Amino acid sequence: MNSFIYFAPLQSYTTLPYYLSYAQVFNAVDKYFTPFYRKNKKDVFEYEDELKCYDGLNIIPQVLVNNSKDLIQFTTDMMKKGFGEINLNMGCPFPMVANKRLGSGFLPYRDKYKLVLKEYFSQNLPMRLSIKTRLGWDNKEEVIALTEVVNDFPIQELIVHPRLGTQKYTGDPDWDVFKEVLEVSNHQVVGNGDINSSEDLETLQKKFPHVEVWMLGRGLLSKPDMLQPGISRFQQKQNLICLHDNFYDNLKKFGYLEGQILNHLKTFWEYPLQDAEGGKRIHRKLRKVGKLDAYSEIKKMIFDLI
Ligand SMILES: Cc1cc2nc3c(=O)[nH]c(=O)nc-3n(C[C@H](O)[C@H](O)[C@H](O)COP(=O)(O)O)c2cc1C
Repeated sequence: MNSFIYFAPLQSYTTLPYYLSYAQVFNAVDKYFTPFYRKNKKDVFEYEDELKCYDGLNIIPQVLVNNSKDLIQFTTDMMKKGFGEINLNMGCPFPMVANKRLGSGFLPYRDKYKLVLKEYFSQNLPMRLSIKTRLGWDNKEEVIALTEVVNDFPIQELIVHPRLGTQKYTGDPDWDVFKEVLEVSNHQVVGNGDINSSEDLETLQKKFPHVEVWMLGRGLLSKPDMLQPGISRFQQKQNLICLHDNFYDNLKKFGYLEGQILNHLKTFWEYPLQDAEGGKRIHRKLRKVGKLDAYSEIKKMIFDLI
């Protein structure tokens, strides 16, 4: 079954060099969502130099805000960079964020987010806006309320990770509530959560034949070629090595310094090594590495292991 596939934003993991490398090696993803941007303590948005449009890479910048002024400002910043679509984060579960009524902590405040959307869409800005949400902060009714509210606005799509904020990543996604969202929504609904193999994807595709788009995160980080059917173990290894080499080259091209390159490589290997036997032990070793020369040694061990 053919679906559209989106890459889920994962702070520190789905960086722009990673996405660029992924798109150069695999041709499997339709949209690449950035981890969220938010205003810093000085009340300004800060962006990396790499945040710009690239050929063949459909990047959707994500923002974490709870007022229309900041949402409009982010939109105009992204318009200047040439983007045509952004995503509003209403899913982040971390208390430091949620306690400020941001992310999934914004979901209990129906009147507030309704006003934000009303003020935002009254501007008629030439920017598509989608929303990524959880089921609620601590109550699954919240996502139904959100779905009803956004039915009255021209959002691009509603991406649902069917867990509560209070669950963080524990428990199973609740696909029954996801089904209720599908019934209530008059927008395109995208499903996300714990799709870790092509079989997982197929099960959901069969369960929800009308859902045209699925968003994948940790599964793709662990097995970047997960969506290529019938791939051999050997080919998997070659693909991962190819992605790594491409990523390494891109980090150098972007002019990153040794310490930054090492940090990116340490995060790159985290998910793929979780699955490999003895992988966690090697990752602990890798975390202690402070020089690229030492990295080359560990890299050989990793390549033997995967
Ligand atoms: C380390 C980590 C960082 C994340 N960062 C973000 C983020 O910046 N924005 C966001 O909307 N979701 C973020 N998420 C949630 C993912 O986008 C996704 O919704 C979640 O992991 C479920 O999908 P998966 O099981 O396919 O990974 C993050 C998740 C993890 C584990």
